[in-house]
Amino acid sequence: MLKHQDKSLLSVRNLTVGFQVGGVTLDAVRGIDLDVARGEVVGVVGESGSGKSVAMLACLGLVPRTARVAGSVRFQDKELVGMPQSEMRKLRGSRIGMIFQDPLSSLNPVLTIGSQIVEAIRLHQPGISRKQAYDRAVELLDLVSIPQPDRRVSQYPHEFSGGMRQRAMIAMAVANGPDLLIADEPTTALDVTVQAQVLEVLKSLRDRLGLGIVLITHDLGVVAGNVDRVAVIYSGRVVEAAEVGALFRDPRHPYTRGLLSSIPKLDEKRERLFSIEGTPPPLGRRPTGCAFHPRCIYAREVCLKEEPALRLAGASLSACHFADSLEQMPVHQAAAGPETTEVHQ
Ligand SMILES: Nc1ncnc2c1ncn2[C@@H]1O[C@H](COP(=O)(O)OP(=O)(O)O)[C@@H](O)[C@H]1O
Ligand SMILES: [Mg+2]
Repeated sequence: MLKHQDKSLLSVRNLTVGFQVGGVTLDAVRGIDLDVARGEVVGVVGESGSGKSVAMLACLGLVPRTARVAGSVRFQDKELVGMPQSEMRKLRGSRIGMIFQDPLSSLNPVLTIGSQIVEAIRLHQPGISRKQAYDRAVELLDLVSIPQPDRRVSQYPHEFSGGMRQRAMIAMAVANGPDLLIADEPTTALDVTVQAQVLEVLKSLRDRLGLGIVLITHDLGVVAGNVDRVAVIYSGRVVEAAEVGALFRDPRHPYTRGLLSSIPKLDEKRERLFSIEGTPPPLGRRPTGCAFHPRCIYAREVCLKEEPALRLAGASLSACHFADSLEQMPVHQAAAGPETTEVHQ
């Protein structure tokens, strides 16, 4: 994952994003590395508040001006950190398509689906006639598997189901033939069947257009079978990164293990689903040492003191002091560590 890939479309190195809060800078993203190659789907997974959206928004220059962004984000041959806004605006929506988590940026209820796609096309390709853009909109709806696209194109968002609206959003995001698509929780509000259909659409776009895709989700269950590689994020850091198969077979971070145990299984009837105890720390109240230690059943003394570096363990990169011996550590060995010292970072 840390290796620079020849075909790399997006190459994020040591990305750090800090927000000014009450006179101090609090880091929401702390030195993230991420690579996305052409034709590859990379899942970015972590509980709500872990920094997934902030990291991707920072890549696209969409964090507030007062935010401190450091590190490097290379897209093709361009450095995006520090790129002038005017140049960045040209990239967004053309070379890089986005589906935002923020519902405010979703479809406009008073315009037809078609006219919104036409607008997205003409914004970046002013030379295209309205008729050409309209025909393209029909093609795009077909591309994202919307039935009867020539009829659907002139309908309003309320005439679409939730899953079709999400597919229309995807159509709009790829309207200008981007190389990279960033999809932030694109399936979160959808039921499982519709979720699967939307994920199929994303994969078919990857296959047909050779897109690189970043799929952001809080649900590790969503990435199984739908991504090539995964970066698991906790408290602003990548804590585990691996090929998806390896991650599911042999997870090397206790947080990943916890997320895996919380995925519902079809063949199991449980009263309550397992969930990792506790919640991620808010910014500014990050514990000392490993940020996950207060919730970790394996935490030992060293975990309270030293933040583990991301290093190779098995087929993963893992930021756990015990990445090499996790499977040999039974649950009852877990040390109930002393009270966490809460510090401002
Ligand atoms: N503009 C902002 N100012 C201060 N804190 C922010 C801002 N935007 C996000 N945060 C904080 O950054 C952390 C990461 O948020 P986010 O990236 O949205 O998480 P998620 O992983 O759920 O997408 C959260 O603690 C959030 O409250
Ligand atoms: Mg988010």
